[in-house]
Amino acid sequence: MSHANAQKPLVSCPAGPLKGAVQVPGDKSISHRALILGALSIGETTVQGLLEGDDVLATAGALRALGAGVERDRDGTWRIRGLGVGGLHEPATVLDLGNAGTGARLLMGVVASHDFVSFFTGDASLCRRPMARVAEPLERIGARFVAREGTRMPLAVIGTGAPLPIEYRLPVASAQVKSAVLLAGLNAPGETSVIEPEPTRDHTENMLRHFGAAVRVEALAEGGRKVTLVGQPELTATAIRVPGDPSSAAFAAVAAAIRPGAEVRIENVGINPLRTGLFATLQEMGAAIDFANRRDAGGEPVADLVVRGGRLKGIAVPPERAPSMIDEYPVLCVAAALAEGTTVMRGIQELRVKESDRIGAMAAGLAAAGIAVEELPDGLVVHGSGGAAPAGGNRIATHMDHRIAMSFLMLGLAAAAPVGIDDGRMIDTSFPGFVGLMNGLGARIAAAPA
Ligand code: S3P
Repeated sequence: MSHANAQKPLVSCPAGPLKGAVQVPGDKSISHRALILGALSIGETTVQGLLEGDDVLATAGALRALGAGVERDRDGTWRIRGLGVGGLHEPATVLDLGNAGTGARLLMGVVASHDFVSFFTGDASLCRRPMARVAEPLERIGARFVAREGTRMPLAVIGTGAPLPIEYRLPVASAQVKSAVLLAGLNAPGETSVIEPEPTRDHTENMLRHFGAAVRVEALAEGGRKVTLVGQPELTATAIRVPGDPSSAAFAAVAAAIRPGAEVRIENVGINPLRTGLFATLQEMGAAIDFANRRDAGGEPVADLVVRGGRLKGIAVPPERAPSMIDEYPVLCVAAALAEGTTVMRGIQELRVKESDRIGAMAAGLAAAGIAVEELPDGLVVHGSGGAAPAGGNRIATHMDHRIAMSFLMLGLAAAAPVGIDDGRMIDTSFPGFVGLMNGLGARIAAAPA
């Protein structure tokens, strides 16, 4: 009997080399930010190409509960009627962010500098994730947090009507924490600064400028940078075009790169240098990736990616590259599994607090598929097959993690026997239409019996 809450197992069968041209859905990071800054500006912001995945829809719902107008036209244009900086209303309901860590943490920053109380919850995965990293700086600004186990959701944010501007040094490289502090600083008088020891994705800074805020970015002598926002700007509604998500393009890119004879064109992909670490890594492993038709789309660089399959070699991924490919390590493991030699991924302990413990989930799933893998506290070592098909024939546990699900479906394409996943529902959080898009390129992914 079918049930609304039932898991949705999928299986990926061995397939030939992928071929064709596709467009992947809009960038998740940029989509969350477009909705949030639209809600904090005066006037009507329009967004084209918004990611209509569950994570972004959860942020849209939360912003409606906070009083902003968020609507979708039939042609797919989203319209946001903002209330201005500091103009949101106390929500009458609990804000349920589902699986969306970015939505939750960025919105905690927003409400921290509003004089009202908000309650946040999410799914089982999000309620396991650490929130102290945002609570700590936001309490310095003047908000208070009341959280389960001191740090986890469900939690309440008691916002302040008199936020203080702060200078904050990030203890972990996290664009979410940087963004939460800057968004809280919007409603504080004076300058709010975030010092990041390693540069992380800069979509918040870029988009704040696009909406009219004054943001300075200084490179620091010791590496990293300092981002300073002048508080209490008037943000003006604008038009935003969201590029395709490089983190979604990553799946088709890896599936093509590992198979001689494959050729895939992925159109309109964001290539912000703080997001493209995976493509640089694949190129170092020997993959043929061209960035065709480079152009600017509303302040973000985009290109059409052309990926041709071949033989890859294992490498040691430089740990300092981690922030620019933080979400791509699971799918990089698939490239590493097919490469010749050993791929070493270190300095990625942050992966343990993503939608799942991604180091543990990848190590378990790769081993079960017949790939030699070593799990380290801060990373993974994968011994590649040199192009030979890994055994496969297993079903892996996705732990409510969309990127674990999609990565193992890519492994199945190149395995000797099908690779199954226990639940494909989370794929819709970031990549609605994933199965159809991949099958259109020649993949063989289908529903599996429970
Ligand atoms: C994101 C930042 C990263 C990334 C996440 C999206 C963002 O998280 O993993 O998928 O949009 O700011 P961290 O800030 O935790 O590194």
